[in-house]
Amino acid sequence: MVKRNKVTIIGAGNVGSTTAQRLAEKEIGDVVLLDIVPDLPQGKALDILESSPIYRFNAKVSGTNNYADTANSEIVIITSGIPRKPGMSRDDLLKTNANIVSQVTRQVVRYSPDAILIVVSNPLDAMTYVASKVSGFPKNRVIGMAGVLDTSRFRTFIAMELGVSVENVNAFVLGGHGDTMVPAIRYTTVVGIPVAELIPKDRLDLIIKRTKEGGAEIVSLLKTGSAYYAPSAAIVEMVEAILKNKNKILPCAAYCHGEYGIKDLFVGVPVKLGVNGVEKIIEISLTPEEKAGILKSAEAVSELCQSVDRLGL
Ligand code: NAI
Ligand code: 2OP
Repeated sequence: MVKRNKVTIIGAGNVGSTTAQRLAEKEIGDVVLLDIVPDLPQGKALDILESSPIYRFNAKVSGTNNYADTANSEIVIITSGIPRKPGMSRDDLLKTNANIVSQVTRQVVRYSPDAILIVVSNPLDAMTYVASKVSGFPKNRVIGMAGVLDTSRFRTFIAMELGVSVENVNAFVLGGHGDTMVPAIRYTTVVGIPVAELIPKDRLDLIIKRTKEGGAEIVSLLKTGSAYYAPSAAIVEMVEAILKNKNKILPCAAYCHGEYGIKDLFVGVPVKLGVNGVEKIIEISLTPEEKAGILKSAEAVSELCQSVDRLGL
């Protein structure tokens, strides 16, 4: 019998439930949605399942409050935590979410010791560090989602500016998931044409600024929470790359062993994603300015990780 993939999502809020829906609709695997709130994941899972005859997908989607139901998942996506409210920075979330991510990770590893963890909770790079520290998993099996989202925003804004298909735009946003993120302009192209040849510098600078503030722009519009449609799409691209062993290069928060001059930190870098999670970190050449940008970003992440260490989780 062909084994079906099992993907667990911790947190049945906006990001978690939208991710469950996208995964099920693509038949990427059976989905278990877990939340601390009684009945919430059960209700959302049933609602998604009841759309399957119309959308014609075959995937089991179940909701639970019990970690035993998550046993032997290939991938566990951690979205539990509180999202940003207007005026809050991602870093304001640090203490609350570090406690939540740490409790959750302990339970997850008990039941799925061979899983690959995809961390989504904010502040992203620091929460990926928490999950790594608490799980004790090999570093290739702990990955943070942010770069795919930030890059998708950047690609969207470039396509809007030029009036071309988003599919024509390739880009990389590196560094931490915060104000110090680094859109790598030299690697940003529109059907192979460097973006700097198509968009004047002053307009490009505005697009970069909008990308860096992309999360806050959605928060200020939604008022009661943060983005989830684009984040869930980004998570699904990563899950698909892993479960289909695509060896797809995507920007993800991965543990750096000295790549880009960064050591012992999870920072957004180009990663080859396959069945083992991080198969390889790809080192692209950077200008001195880009390199300084990514190091500055790593420094900001390092400070957050030191704050995590002070919590003594
Ligand atoms: P949400 O508030 O809609 O959902 C969070 C869910 O986590 C809630 O249902 C809550 O009950 C659950 N939860 C809280 N503590 C829990 C625990 N101990 N065990 C199990 N479940 C628990 O929030 P949303 O919008 O889904 O965002 C989730 C997180 O993802 C936030 O921290 C947010 O900042 C982050 N985020 C990160 C992105 C990224 O690019 N890395 C993008 C979008 C969101
Ligand atoms: C975002 O960038 C909230 O970090 C999340 O939308």
